[in-house]
Formats: sequence, C-alpha cells, structure tokens
Amino acid sequence: MSDDIAISETPFADLTKVEFSADHYPVMVTDVLESFSVFREKKALRYFDGTFGRGGHLRAVLVHFPQAKAVAMDQDLRAIEACKVMFKTEVEAERIRIIHGNFSEFKEKNFGSFDMMLLDLGVSSPQLDNAERGFSFYHDGPLDMRMNQNQGITAEYIVNTASEQELNDLFKVYGEIHRPFRVVRAIVHDRKTKAFQSTKELAGLIERVDGWRHKGHHPATQYFMALRLRVNSELEVLQSTLPEMMRALTPGGRLAVISFHSLEDRIVKNLFKHDKQLGQQTHKKVILPAQEECDKNPRSRSAKLRVFERNVQDELKEF
Ligand SMILES: C[S@@+](CC[C@H](N)C(=O)[O-])C[C@H]1O[C@@H](n2cnc3c(N)ncnc32)[C@H](O)[C@@H]1O
Repeated sequence: MSDDIAISETPFADLTKVEFSADHYPVMVTDVLESFSVFREKKALRYFDGTFGRGGHLRAVLVHFPQAKAVAMDQDLRAIEACKVMFKTEVEAERIRIIHGNFSEFKEKNFGSFDMMLLDLGVSSPQLDNAERGFSFYHDGPLDMRMNQNQGITAEYIVNTASEQELNDLFKVYGEIHRPFRVVRAIVHDRKTKAFQSTKELAGLIERVDGWRHKGHHPATQYFMALRLRVNSELEVLQSTLPEMMRALTPGGRLAVISFHSLEDRIVKNLFKHDKQLGQQTHKKVILPAQEECDKNPRSRSAKLRVFERNVQDELKEF
C-alpha cells in the first residue's frame, strides 16, 4: 500500500441518534463528523452540503451540531423532492435552505461563507438502482446518465453521435482504458444499423468485444464511468468550483470532499495543495474507510476523503 494512504481509525459506530434514509447509506459519516469536531464549541455554525443525495451527511451534521444552519444543494430533482419531505421540520424552522442546482453555481448564488462544507461526489444509490436513470449496466434502462434530468446531453447522444476519435479519447481519458479501440470500432459499426438506446445494448456489446478479464469486474464498468463523467461534466465542475468553495470558508473553516474516482481525487489533492496562503489539508494522507465500513457498505470501498482547512491568519489579512 502506498505511503500516501491512511486507513480511517475513527470507529464506524455511534450514529445511533441519526436516522438515515433507507435508500442511501452515507459513506464515511463518522470521519466527516470527526473532521468538523473542532467546531463543537462554536456558537453559530453554517454548513454547506453541495451533494445532498438522500441527506445522510446533512442529517448527521444537524444532529451533532445543533447550533448549525445549512444550505443543501443537489442537481437531481428527485433528491430535492426527497429532501423537502425528509427535512420538512427543519425547512419550516429555517434551519435548512434547499436549492435545486449544480454546485457549479456556488459563486453566483452568493451564499456567503461557511464553517463546514461537504462534497460527497458521484451518484447516490437511488440513482444507481433506478433503471430509468441509465447509470447501471446491471439494469436495463435508457442510456441517459444525467443527474439533472432537465439539462444537458445524454449518454445516448454521445454514444450515437461522437466520432470514432472522440469516443476513443473519451474512454482513454475519463475511463482510463488503455485500449478502447475494438469496442469503439464495434460501436461505430453497429450504430449504422441501429442507434444504441439502452444500457443493456451497450453493456452487451462491450461484454462481447472485451470479454470478462477480471472476475467480479464487469467489462463495461470503466466505459460507463467515462460516459457518466462526460455527461455530467463532473471533473470540469469540480476543477472550477472547488477553489471558489475553498475561498468561501470562514477562517479556520473546513471543506471535506469524498471522491470515488482516481481522477476526481487527483483534482482534489492538487487543489488542496495549491494555495498554502489560503490553507492546507488537515491530514497529510488521503483517508480511506475502515474495513468494517467496507464490509457493511460495499459502495464505500472506493471512497477517499480529503479535508481542507482555511488558515486562521487569513482573517487578519482581510480585515
Ligand atoms: C453520493 S451522493 C450524495 C449522498 C449524500 N451525501 C447522502 O448522505 O445521502 C451524490 C449526490 O450528489 C449529486 N451531485 C453530484 N454532482 C453534483 C453537482 N455538481 N451539483 C449538484 N449535485 C450533484 C447527485 O445528484 C447525488 O444526488
């Protein structure tokens, strides 16, 4: 194992007071809470959650920090609908503001500054498990993959209209697939007769051409990941918005980011190192979930947590 990695030592335990949604079990909650624990004594706190999902982290933060008020965002309308129901009391008490939108709009929304911020990147279990959303090759659904169903291009559009060169580049860069050429050639050949419309059609082609190389690892995994990243511009949004969020931290404020993809983690790592004047990572190493959590929640296995802390001295410079 690389020197650059630390396995979480935070006990994955006492969340007994927190009621989570049955649809999505949140990842590394105790680690996120632990990273915010420096604020326990602070009288008033502001928390920003850019990836509400099913509100697991939000719920845990509100329970553990009764003095906190939150702004919660998600670009998926279904997440927002769920949020309004799950947090009805808190919304009515003006403890939470819920915003439907991409966290790329963070700056233009002028939310002000925050003590605690979280991005729990990627997709939620309800998005993955619902065939209609088209994220998973395990379910047959339309080749969609948009987190925000009101916006943007679908995976179907990309698969059926991108040139051979564009598809090769996409799968090489975003999917980190060494040799996507045979699959791409087959896509370009087959779509002349009939456009790809469903996840099973695409996954079936990849399976046929590439075959199963690693037990337990579907050959379409990286191809689907690449399409999802492209459909939702996930890496570009992270790269451009993270610096804005870092600058919106109060002095001493902390921004936690959970990523599930090496390209995402690389962006977070580089940006957190970039401006020592502004702040630095709280842990030298990236934090991985404890084995106990991975056993309990297999979707946490690829999670990586990094926490950025804004320098306190910054305050002196500004005022
Ligand atoms: C892994 S889930 C978050 C789960 C959440 N922390 C919980 O405990 O339930 C990721 C969520 O972030 C949303 N999302 C991803 N990228 C986003 C973006 N750029 N802007 C807004 N929401 C985003 C997705 O729609 C999804 O609902």
